[in-house]
Amino acid sequence: MSITTVTTVAELKAAAADLLSRRGGSALGLVPTMGALHEGHAALASAAVRANDVTVASIFVNPLQFGDAADLDRYPRTLAADQQLLEDQGVDLVFAPTVAEVYPAGPPLVSVTAGTLGAMFEGASRPGHFDGALTVVAKLLHFGLSPAAHYRAYFGQKDAQQLVLVRRMVADLAFPVDIVAVPTVRAEDGLALSSRNRFLSAAEREAAPVLARALRLLGERAARHEPLDLDSAVAMIKSQPLVDLDYFDVVDPDTLQPLAENCRHTPFTGTALALIAARVGPVRLIDNLPLG
Ligand code: PAF
Repeated sequence: MSITTVTTVAELKAAAADLLSRRGGSALGLVPTMGALHEGHAALASAAVRANDVTVASIFVNPLQFGDAADLDRYPRTLAADQQLLEDQGVDLVFAPTVAEVYPAGPPLVSVTAGTLGAMFEGASRPGHFDGALTVVAKLLHFGLSPAAHYRAYFGQKDAQQLVLVRRMVADLAFPVDIVAVPTVRAEDGLALSSRNRFLSAAEREAAPVLARALRLLGERAARHEPLDLDSAVAMIKSQPLVDLDYFDVVDPDTLQPLAENCRHTPFTGTALALIAARVGPVRLIDNLPLG
């Protein structure tokens, strides 16, 4: 494995600037990750490599976005495999900083808050999660910022609420970066790829694709402009004993406000986002599907 890996912001800036100037390039792509990479991250990396002259992927398990120290400790760290996956996708540079490099003065006194958008859905069961995620994304975006004429950052559609919030932060705070969304990558049976899937037992792994099936049912109804009939999709999930549903809702794709009841019982038109979260055994899984 030969991918260049740097650990300090100064090294990152120098190496990215050097690569851009040697290539006479003008576009830099940043792929922020927490490692434990899978084919979903490979899709992000490959989209960035195709569109930019230089691509940097960051690997940083951000303590600020974990409510629970045990959850942070349990988060898989697989640096060597991650470097290999990124190299295979043609990524130029890995930025793998320490916690002290990202937060030299300890937890930041001034940070980004996700507001009401960050308190709904995932935010309701993980208070502070999106404040922590946005704060580190803001810092990573600044670290990657270079004189490159074009700066893009890549996020998965799989984390739909995070994507909406990152877009809002970039728009509200005028960050000079284009946010590119990359579609969710799924296993053959439909299960959205996630670093958490590795914690599912065989029986749980077999049960988990019901989330994707329920979303697909809504997607098919939306495509046929039928009423979404969310209740029947909820019933489909509740029939699966290993799956404990947290939320399943159809929302506005930009504001995450639940759609008016009548859109569920009258022919579907327009665009929406179906969001779902459930515990499958001990593992909390999320998924979503853009509709229309
Ligand atoms: O989606 C993730 O992996 C993380 O939330 C991110 C965007 C890398 C910030 O830590």
